[in-house]
Amino acid sequence: MQIYESIARRIEPHHARSMAAFALRLASLSRRKNLPVDQGIDVMGLRFPGVVGLAAGFDKHGDLYPYLQTAGFGFAEIGTVTPLPEPGRSRGIHAVTHSLGQYVHRRRIPLGISISMNRDTQLQSMAQDYLSCMHAAWQHADYIVINLGVRAGPDLHQLEHRNILGHVLHAVRKEREWLFHQYGNRLPMMIKIDQARSSTHELVCMGLEAGMDGIVLCGSGSRPADMLEHVTRSLNSSIPIVAVGGIRTPQDAADRLMAGASLIQVHTGLVQSGPGLIRQMNTFLRVQGHCERPNKDSYGRQDQP
Ligand SMILES: Cc1cc2nc3c(=O)[nH]c(=O)nc-3n(C[C@H](O)[C@H](O)[C@H](O)COP(=O)(O)O)c2cc1C
Repeated sequence: MQIYESIARRIEPHHARSMAAFALRLASLSRRKNLPVDQGIDVMGLRFPGVVGLAAGFDKHGDLYPYLQTAGFGFAEIGTVTPLPEPGRSRGIHAVTHSLGQYVHRRRIPLGISISMNRDTQLQSMAQDYLSCMHAAWQHADYIVINLGVRAGPDLHQLEHRNILGHVLHAVRKEREWLFHQYGNRLPMMIKIDQARSSTHELVCMGLEAGMDGIVLCGSGSRPADMLEHVTRSLNSSIPIVAVGGIRTPQDAADRLMAGASLIQVHTGLVQSGPGLIRQMNTFLRVQGHCERPNKDSYGRQDQP
Protein backbone atom coordinates (compact mmCIF):
# COMPACT_ATOMS: atom_id res chain seq x y z
CA MET A 1 0.00 0.00 0.00
CA GLN A 2 2.95 2.34 0.62
CA ILE A 3 4.09 2.18 -3.02
CA TYR A 4 0.52 2.76 -4.11
CA GLU A 5 0.21 5.80 -1.85
CA SER A 6 3.45 7.38 -2.94
CA ILE A 7 2.42 7.09 -6.61
CA ALA A 8 -1.11 8.40 -5.90
CA ARG A 9 0.34 11.41 -4.06
CA ARG A 10 2.53 12.37 -7.00
CA ILE A 11 -0.08 12.31 -9.77
CA GLU A 12 -3.09 14.51 -10.60
CA PRO A 13 -6.24 13.64 -8.57
CA HIS A 14 -8.18 12.49 -11.64
CA HIS A 15 -5.32 10.16 -12.59
CA ALA A 16 -5.20 8.88 -9.02
CA ARG A 17 -8.92 8.20 -9.29
CA SER A 18 -8.41 6.21 -12.51
CA MET A 19 -5.62 4.29 -10.82
CA ALA A 20 -7.93 3.40 -7.92
CA ALA A 21 -10.63 2.29 -10.37
CA PHE A 22 -8.09 0.12 -12.17
CA ALA A 23 -6.85 -1.33 -8.87
CA LEU A 24 -10.45 -2.19 -7.93
CA ARG A 25 -10.87 -4.13 -11.17
CA LEU A 26 -7.53 -5.86 -10.59
CA ALA A 27 -8.39 -6.72 -6.99
CA SER A 28 -11.46 -8.59 -8.21
CA LEU A 29 -9.17 -11.05 -10.03
CA SER A 30 -7.42 -11.95 -6.79
CA ARG A 31 -8.47 -15.18 -5.13
CA ARG A 32 -8.14 -13.53 -1.75
CA LYS A 33 -11.55 -12.90 -0.29
CA ASN A 34 -11.91 -9.24 0.56
CA LEU A 35 -15.57 -9.32 1.40
CA PRO A 36 -16.34 -8.59 5.03
CA VAL A 37 -16.75 -11.95 6.71
CA ASP A 38 -18.67 -10.80 9.76
CA GLN A 39 -22.38 -11.41 9.98
CA GLY A 40 -23.26 -7.96 8.78
CA ILE A 41 -25.63 -5.48 10.31
CA ASP A 42 -29.18 -4.32 9.67
CA VAL A 43 -29.69 -0.63 9.02
CA MET A 44 -32.94 0.88 7.72
CA GLY A 45 -34.25 -2.63 7.20
CA LEU A 46 -31.38 -3.57 4.87
CA ARG A 47 -28.66 -6.11 5.56
CA PHE A 48 -25.17 -4.64 5.12
CA PRO A 49 -22.40 -7.28 4.96
CA GLY A 50 -19.90 -4.63 6.11
CA VAL A 51 -19.99 -1.11 7.53
CA VAL A 52 -17.48 0.45 5.10
CA GLY A 53 -19.15 1.81 1.98
CA LEU A 54 -18.17 3.79 -1.09
CA ALA A 55 -19.22 7.45 -1.03
CA ALA A 56 -21.03 9.11 -3.95
CA GLY A 57 -18.97 10.66 -6.72
CA PHE A 58 -16.41 7.88 -7.21
CA ASP A 59 -18.59 5.49 -9.22
CA LYS A 60 -20.96 7.96 -10.79
CA HIS A 61 -22.61 5.52 -13.18
CA GLY A 62 -22.35 2.21 -11.37
CA ASP A 63 -19.69 0.84 -13.74
CA LEU A 64 -17.56 -0.38 -10.84
CA TYR A 65 -20.32 -1.91 -8.77
CA PRO A 66 -19.31 -5.59 -9.29
CA TYR A 67 -15.71 -4.81 -8.34
CA LEU A 68 -16.74 -2.94 -5.22
CA GLN A 69 -18.33 -5.97 -3.68
CA THR A 70 -15.24 -8.12 -4.25
CA ALA A 71 -12.97 -5.36 -2.91
CA GLY A 72 -14.66 -5.58 0.48
CA PHE A 73 -17.11 -2.70 0.42
CA GLY A 74 -20.21 -3.40 2.47
CA PHE A 75 -22.34 -1.08 0.32
CA ALA A 76 -22.00 1.35 -2.54
CA GLU A 77 -23.58 4.69 -3.32
CA ILE A 78 -23.48 5.50 -7.00
CA GLY A 79 -24.15 8.88 -8.62
CA THR A 80 -24.95 11.61 -8.08
CA VAL A 81 -27.28 11.13 -11.03
CA THR A 82 -29.48 13.78 -12.61
CA PRO A 83 -32.65 13.25 -14.70
CA LEU A 84 -31.06 14.38 -17.96
CA PRO A 85 -27.49 13.74 -19.10
CA GLU A 86 -24.97 16.50 -18.41
CA PRO A 87 -21.60 16.31 -20.17
CA GLY A 88 -18.85 15.43 -17.72
CA ARG A 89 -21.23 15.12 -14.79
CA SER A 90 -24.04 12.64 -15.35
CA ARG A 91 -25.13 10.19 -18.04
CA GLY A 92 -28.70 10.72 -16.90
CA ILE A 93 -30.73 8.45 -14.67
CA HIS A 94 -32.18 6.28 -17.45
CA ALA A 95 -28.79 5.36 -18.91
CA VAL A 96 -27.52 4.51 -15.42
CA THR A 97 -30.48 2.35 -14.42
CA HIS A 98 -30.37 0.62 -17.80
CA SER A 99 -26.76 -0.43 -17.29
CA LEU A 100 -27.43 -1.49 -13.68
CA GLY A 101 -29.89 -4.03 -15.06
CA GLN A 102 -26.97 -6.32 -15.97
CA TYR A 103 -26.06 -6.82 -12.28
CA VAL A 104 -29.53 -7.74 -11.14
CA HIS A 105 -28.61 -11.34 -10.29
CA ARG A 106 -25.12 -10.57 -9.03
CA ARG A 107 -25.87 -8.12 -6.24
CA ARG A 108 -24.46 -8.94 -2.86
CA ILE A 109 -24.15 -5.51 -1.27
CA PRO A 110 -26.78 -2.76 -0.96
CA LEU A 111 -26.73 -0.28 -3.79
CA GLY A 112 -27.69 3.32 -3.09
CA ILE A 113 -28.43 5.80 -5.86
CA SER A 114 -27.71 9.44 -5.11
CA ILE A 115 -30.02 11.78 -7.03
CA SER A 116 -30.10 15.48 -7.74
CA MET A 117 -31.44 18.03 -10.19
CA ASN A 118 -30.02 19.22 -13.48
CA ARG A 119 -27.94 22.35 -13.33
CA ASP A 120 -30.26 24.48 -15.43
CA THR A 121 -33.53 23.33 -13.86
CA GLN A 122 -35.76 26.24 -12.89
CA LEU A 123 -36.71 26.71 -9.25
CA GLN A 124 -40.32 25.75 -9.82
CA SER A 125 -39.38 22.44 -11.48
CA MET A 126 -36.72 21.41 -9.00
CA ALA A 127 -38.91 18.95 -7.09
CA GLN A 128 -39.88 17.35 -10.40
CA ASP A 129 -36.22 16.50 -11.11
CA TYR A 130 -35.93 14.59 -7.84
CA LEU A 131 -39.24 12.82 -8.51
CA SER A 132 -38.18 11.75 -12.02
CA CYS A 133 -35.01 10.26 -10.61
CA MET A 134 -36.94 8.48 -7.86
CA HIS A 135 -39.28 6.94 -10.45
CA ALA A 136 -36.41 5.69 -12.58
CA ALA A 137 -34.34 4.47 -9.61
CA TRP A 138 -37.12 2.82 -7.62
CA GLN A 139 -36.81 -0.65 -9.15
CA HIS A 140 -33.01 -0.59 -9.31
CA ALA A 141 -31.78 0.79 -5.99
CA ASP A 142 -31.76 -0.61 -2.46
CA TYR A 143 -31.92 2.92 -1.10
CA ILE A 144 -32.03 6.46 -2.49
CA VAL A 145 -30.10 9.53 -1.31
CA ILE A 146 -31.36 13.06 -1.85
CA ASN A 147 -28.25 15.12 -2.62
CA LEU A 148 -28.84 18.77 -1.82
CA GLY A 149 -25.75 20.15 -3.48
CA VAL A 150 -25.52 21.31 -7.06
CA ARG A 151 -22.82 23.53 -8.43
CA ALA A 152 -25.26 25.96 -9.99
CA GLY A 153 -28.72 27.01 -8.88
CA PRO A 154 -29.83 27.39 -5.30
CA ASP A 155 -27.86 25.44 -2.74
CA LEU A 156 -30.55 23.73 -0.70
CA HIS A 157 -28.17 23.63 2.26
CA GLN A 158 -28.65 27.35 2.71
CA LEU A 159 -31.43 28.17 5.10
CA GLU A 160 -32.75 31.02 2.98
CA HIS A 161 -33.85 28.23 0.65
CA ARG A 162 -35.71 26.46 3.41
CA ASN A 163 -39.07 26.88 1.68
CA ILE A 164 -37.80 25.33 -1.53
CA LEU A 165 -36.25 22.45 0.35
CA GLY A 166 -39.45 21.98 2.34
CA HIS A 167 -41.38 21.84 -0.92
CA VAL A 168 -38.94 19.30 -2.43
CA LEU A 169 -39.07 17.07 0.64
CA HIS A 170 -42.84 17.25 0.81
CA ALA A 171 -43.09 16.22 -2.84
CA VAL A 172 -40.59 13.41 -2.27
CA ARG A 173 -42.62 12.13 0.66
CA LYS A 174 -45.85 12.04 -1.35
CA GLU A 175 -44.17 10.40 -4.33
CA ARG A 176 -42.67 7.77 -2.14
CA GLU A 177 -46.10 6.72 -0.90
CA TRP A 178 -47.32 6.58 -4.47
CA LEU A 179 -44.35 4.44 -5.57
CA PHE A 180 -44.90 2.13 -2.62
CA HIS A 181 -48.50 1.55 -3.60
CA GLN A 182 -47.51 1.16 -7.24
CA TYR A 183 -44.63 -1.31 -6.80
CA GLY A 184 -45.08 -2.65 -3.28
CA ASN A 185 -41.53 -1.96 -2.08
CA ARG A 186 -40.81 0.69 0.55
CA LEU A 187 -37.33 1.88 -0.36
CA PRO A 188 -35.30 3.51 2.42
CA MET A 189 -34.51 7.15 1.65
CA MET A 190 -31.76 9.36 3.03
CA ILE A 191 -30.75 12.97 2.76
CA LYS A 192 -27.08 13.95 2.39
CA ILE A 193 -26.11 16.98 4.44
CA ASP A 194 -22.78 18.77 4.24
CA GLN A 195 -21.96 19.98 7.75
CA ALA A 196 -19.62 22.64 6.45
CA ARG A 197 -22.31 24.28 4.34
CA SER A 198 -25.35 24.11 6.53
CA SER A 199 -27.13 24.55 9.76
CA THR A 200 -27.01 20.82 10.30
CA HIS A 201 -29.55 20.62 13.09
CA GLU A 202 -32.32 22.35 11.12
CA LEU A 203 -31.71 20.31 8.01
CA VAL A 204 -31.68 17.09 10.02
CA CYS A 205 -35.02 18.10 11.57
CA MET A 206 -36.46 18.78 8.14
CA GLY A 207 -35.26 15.38 6.99
CA LEU A 208 -36.89 13.73 10.00
CA GLU A 209 -40.15 15.58 9.40
CA ALA A 210 -40.11 14.43 5.78
CA GLY A 211 -39.89 10.81 6.93
CA MET A 212 -36.30 10.18 5.80
CA ASP A 213 -34.90 6.88 7.07
CA GLY A 214 -31.32 8.05 7.49
CA ILE A 215 -28.86 10.92 7.14
CA VAL A 216 -25.61 10.85 5.19
CA LEU A 217 -23.59 13.38 7.16
CA CYS A 218 -20.55 14.76 5.43
CA GLY A 219 -18.20 16.18 8.03
CA SER A 220 -14.77 17.60 7.51
CA GLY A 221 -12.89 20.19 9.53
CA SER A 222 -10.55 19.56 12.40
CA ARG A 223 -12.59 17.28 14.67
CA PRO A 224 -15.19 15.51 12.53
CA ALA A 225 -15.74 12.68 15.03
CA ASP A 226 -16.59 15.20 17.79
CA MET A 227 -19.02 17.02 15.51
CA LEU A 228 -20.59 13.72 14.57
CA GLU A 229 -20.98 12.74 18.20
CA HIS A 230 -22.69 16.05 18.90
CA VAL A 231 -25.23 15.38 16.13
CA THR A 232 -25.85 11.76 17.07
CA ARG A 233 -26.40 12.71 20.72
CA SER A 234 -28.85 15.44 19.77
CA LEU A 235 -30.74 12.95 17.62
CA ASN A 236 -30.93 10.50 20.51
CA SER A 237 -30.78 7.42 18.26
CA SER A 238 -33.88 8.49 16.36
CA ILE A 239 -32.34 7.93 12.92
CA PRO A 240 -29.23 6.16 11.58
CA ILE A 241 -26.28 8.25 10.41
CA VAL A 242 -23.88 7.36 7.63
CA ALA A 243 -20.65 9.27 8.28
CA VAL A 244 -18.48 10.47 5.41
CA GLY A 245 -15.62 12.93 5.08
CA GLY A 246 -12.00 12.68 6.12
CA ILE A 247 -12.06 8.93 6.80
CA ARG A 248 -8.58 7.93 5.66
CA THR A 249 -7.43 5.25 8.11
CA PRO A 250 -8.92 2.24 9.92
CA GLN A 251 -8.74 4.28 13.15
CA ASP A 252 -10.78 7.10 11.54
CA ALA A 253 -13.40 4.51 10.61
CA ALA A 254 -13.52 3.14 14.17
CA ASP A 255 -13.74 6.68 15.62
CA ARG A 256 -16.80 7.53 13.53
CA LEU A 257 -18.54 4.33 14.56
CA MET A 258 -17.72 5.07 18.19
CA ALA A 259 -19.12 8.59 17.70
CA GLY A 260 -22.47 7.07 16.76
CA ALA A 261 -22.41 6.42 13.02
CA SER A 262 -24.13 3.24 11.90
CA LEU A 263 -22.15 3.04 8.67
CA ILE A 264 -19.24 4.95 7.13
CA GLN A 265 -18.26 5.90 3.59
CA VAL A 266 -14.88 6.49 1.97
CA HIS A 267 -13.97 8.48 -1.12
CA THR A 268 -10.59 10.26 -0.98
CA GLY A 269 -9.09 7.47 1.14
CA LEU A 270 -9.75 5.04 -1.71
CA VAL A 271 -8.16 7.41 -4.23
CA GLN A 272 -5.08 8.01 -2.06
CA SER A 273 -4.53 4.52 -0.65
CA GLY A 274 -6.26 2.15 -3.09
CA PRO A 275 -8.57 -0.77 -2.35
CA GLY A 276 -6.10 -2.23 0.18
CA LEU A 277 -7.42 0.40 2.60
CA ILE A 278 -10.88 -1.17 2.59
CA ARG A 279 -9.46 -4.57 3.47
CA GLN A 280 -7.43 -2.99 6.27
CA MET A 281 -10.49 -1.19 7.62
CA ASN A 282 -12.58 -4.35 7.63
CA THR A 283 -9.88 -6.30 9.44
CA PHE A 284 -9.29 -3.54 11.99
CA LEU A 285 -12.98 -3.07 12.71
CA ARG A 286 -13.50 -6.80 13.06
CA VAL A 287 -10.61 -7.13 15.50
CA GLN A 288 -11.97 -4.18 17.47
CA GLY A 289 -15.39 -5.79 17.58
CA HIS A 290 -17.17 -3.14 15.55
CA CYS A 291 -18.84 -5.58 13.20
CA GLU A 292 -20.53 -7.99 15.54
CA ARG A 293 -24.25 -7.80 15.67
CA PRO A 294 -24.82 -8.35 19.42
CA ASN A 295 -23.23 -4.94 20.14
CA LYS A 296 -25.60 -3.09 17.89
CA ASP A 297 -28.90 -1.44 18.59
CA SER A 298 -31.72 -1.51 16.08
CA TYR A 299 -29.89 0.87 13.73
CA GLY A 300 -26.69 -1.11 13.86
CA ARG A 301 -25.10 1.67 15.93
CA GLN A 302 -22.45 0.82 18.49
CA ASP A 303 -23.63 0.86 22.09
CA GLN A 304 -22.42 4.02 23.77
CA PRO A 305 -20.55 3.44 27.02
C1 LIG B 1 -14.17 14.31 -7.19
C2 LIG B 1 -15.31 14.21 -6.22
C3 LIG B 1 -16.61 14.06 -6.72
C4 LIG B 1 -17.68 13.99 -5.84
N1 LIG B 1 -18.94 13.84 -6.35
C5 LIG B 1 -19.98 13.72 -5.49
C6 LIG B 1 -21.29 13.52 -5.98
O1 LIG B 1 -21.53 13.44 -7.19
N2 LIG B 1 -22.30 13.41 -5.08
C7 LIG B 1 -22.10 13.47 -3.73
O2 LIG B 1 -23.06 13.35 -2.96
N3 LIG B 1 -20.85 13.65 -3.23
C8 LIG B 1 -19.81 13.76 -4.07
N4 LIG B 1 -18.55 13.95 -3.56
C9 LIG B 1 -18.36 14.02 -2.09
C10 LIG B 1 -18.00 12.64 -1.50
O3 LIG B 1 -19.08 11.73 -1.63
C11 LIG B 1 -17.64 12.78 -0.02
O4 LIG B 1 -18.81 13.21 0.69
C12 LIG B 1 -16.53 13.79 0.24
O5 LIG B 1 -15.51 13.66 -0.73
C13 LIG B 1 -15.93 13.59 1.62
O6 LIG B 1 -15.40 12.28 1.77
P1 LIG B 1 -13.82 11.99 1.65
O7 LIG B 1 -13.14 12.85 2.67
O8 LIG B 1 -13.68 10.50 1.93
O9 LIG B 1 -13.41 12.35 0.26
C14 LIG B 1 -17.46 14.04 -4.43
C15 LIG B 1 -16.17 14.18 -3.95
C16 LIG B 1 -15.10 14.26 -4.82
C17 LIG B 1 -13.71 14.39 -4.25
